[in-house]
Amino acid sequence: MKLSKKEYDAMQSGWRKWINRNLEIKGFRGWGMDFEGKDILEIGCGSGYSASLITKENPKSYTGIDIMPEQLAKAEALNLPNAHFFQGDVSDLSRFEDNSFDMIVDFMILHHVEGWRSFLDEAFRVLRPGGEMYINDLTRKGVHMTDFFFHWEHAEEPLFTIQEFGQKASESGLITVEKINYAGLDFCFKFQKPAV
Ligand SMILES: C[S@@+](CC[C@H](N)C(=O)[O-])C[C@H]1O[C@@H](n2cnc3c(N)ncnc32)[C@H](O)[C@@H]1O
Repeated sequence: MKLSKKEYDAMQSGWRKWINRNLEIKGFRGWGMDFEGKDILEIGCGSGYSASLITKENPKSYTGIDIMPEQLAKAEALNLPNAHFFQGDVSDLSRFEDNSFDMIVDFMILHHVEGWRSFLDEAFRVLRPGGEMYINDLTRKGVHMTDFFFHWEHAEEPLFTIQEFGQKASESGLITVEKINYAGLDFCFKFQKPAV
């Protein structure tokens, strides 16, 4: 779903970039996140800040997808090497063939996606065997707390608990390799598609 004006503005801020660089991406390094030589898909790529970090590390390719044209216009204006951006809903990845990515990354988007269950099925399909998926997102409780303080006006329909999310990922065929639960508000997963 599209962001409220307040959340959209916050996503362009220096503190959002600081968190993305120093907490989210750095945190995932400890779980082995490494972009070099890989085909990367970022869901909800926003205005392209994480794309600018990822493409510095010589991935084979970088693909970003987002639902908001105004976010994508900013991302495209960065003219990043070997980066491709598409507008669309991540619950439908039918433009991508089976087994086409080595890694999928999510920095705070799936709590906006009503079709997050379909996304997990699609993620399994488009990942190569042995491919990895790194998820950093907010739970229903985390979104409610954020809205209490910041009034970002999230929709209720897409929200989930960590248990609901982990359970559906497992039903989609993904293996949980790592998991952190931050007080039931925020969480990280590293998933893997089984190698054949
Ligand atoms: C909270 S912002 C995070 C943006 C970026 N990942 C970042 O860390 O700054 C969520 C992003 O997801 C996008 N989004 C929301 N629902 C979406 C959907 N169903 N499919 C694709 N993108 C979506 C929004 O347009 C927005 O750019």
